[in-house]
Amino acid sequence: MVNYKIAPSILSADFSKLGEEVDAVVRAGADMIHIDVMDNHYVPNLTFGPMVCKSIRPITTLPLDVHLMAAPVDRLAQDFAKAGANIITFHPEATDHVDRTIQIIQDSGCKAGIVINPATSIGCLDWVLDKISVVLIMSVNPGFGGQEFIQGSYRKIKRVRKVIQESGREISLQVDGGINAENIKAIAKAGADSFVSGSAIFGASDYHRAIANLKQQLL
Ligand code: DX5
Ligand code: ZN
Repeated sequence: MVNYKIAPSILSADFSKLGEEVDAVVRAGADMIHIDVMDNHYVPNLTFGPMVCKSIRPITTLPLDVHLMAAPVDRLAQDFAKAGANIITFHPEATDHVDRTIQIIQDSGCKAGIVINPATSIGCLDWVLDKISVVLIMSVNPGFGGQEFIQGSYRKIKRVRKVIQESGREISLQVDGGINAENIKAIAKAGADSFVSGSAIFGASDYHRAIANLKQQLL
């Protein structure tokens, strides 16, 4: 029995009342809070820094899952760890020394994960699978919420699930982008155990119903 997790992305929250929004999805059944960090350099959008993470930290005991779409990675990752992050994922294209970055994240007390963009090969996983805790597969191009799920992602999810199984390690396979109640079952079937969702949750009028609806598809 897979322990499926729903991670609402606060990218789609109402920033004028961010604390209330985080509290609302926590009470609505979220399993972790996904924080999309964009730097207007690695991706063409700009969002949260460590101070925002720090201000969210007292609101919940759920894991804060920080998705860094920013370059360079190392200093920023340490700052997010200090700000209360539990999981830090990063794009290998955004750092010069992937192994060192993983080490820095882990030395900061966080779980480390690698993010695979839609056109990025999964070959880079071969040399980090013995260390990482998460593989995050992007099912949209990083930078914006509300995009459509890229169909080719299913094939990649299946392959990565196989690679994780072969590693014999407990590594979470997270998928991010365009997930909704219509496709979440197929994404789980392909091998995902953790689902980032922004617009399908924060775009709904009832967060509890939106999360329950996603979880219902996974039964
Ligand atoms: C995209 C972000 C996603 C995004 C997901 O760069 O990494 O986390 O917020 O949002 P939806 O669910 O709207 O695709
Ligand atoms: Zn994300």
